[in-house]
Amino acid sequence: MKKMVVVMMIMMVMVMVSEASMIEQTCKETPDFNLCVSLLDSDPRGSSADTSGLALILVDKIKGLATKTLKEINSLYKKRPELKQALDECSRRYKTILKADVPEAIEAISKGVPKFGEDGVIDAGVEAAVCEGEFKGKSPLTSLTKSMQKVSNVTRAIVRMLL
Ligand SMILES: *[C@@H]1O[C@H](CO)[C@@H](O)[C@H](O)[C@H]1NC(C)=O
Repeated sequence: MKKMVVVMMIMMVMVMVSEASMIEQTCKETPDFNLCVSLLDSDPRGSSADTSGLALILVDKIKGLATKTLKEINSLYKKRPELKQALDECSRRYKTILKADVPEAIEAISKGVPKFGEDGVIDAGVEAAVCEGEFKGKSPLTSLTKSMQKVSNVTRAIVRMLL
């Protein structure tokens, strides 16, 4: 009985180790290993996902970050009314991420046509950069913009493994 418990524990540890190395090995091929591992390790789906599953989790992180940024944009209208024009443009850009880029990427990756998934993921980073540019160097969104570009770059690298 005791032996069986020990054997089961060893097997569980072996499973955990192999799962960890799946995420780590995948993340090694991306431009930001630490960000990649932290995003995937913190997600309950990460431990059992294959490469396209990992890509889908990261697309979900893009969605979460875009939603968070859109909320920040909405709160800035009151705090920084002088930025209305830029905020309007940013609002459009982040809605494009949520309504076009993310669904396109999810559908493409799920259906096994990663090329179109890559397009959506790249565009999320482009939209963030265009928004940032609207503020002419005085953006209140810089750290969110950088996060989106980093996540977009990491996700792109993983989607490319599916090509
Ligand atoms: C994302 O990738 C592009 C293209 O390789 C690069 O120019 C840019 O610096 C990267 N951005 C970030 C925030 O890592």
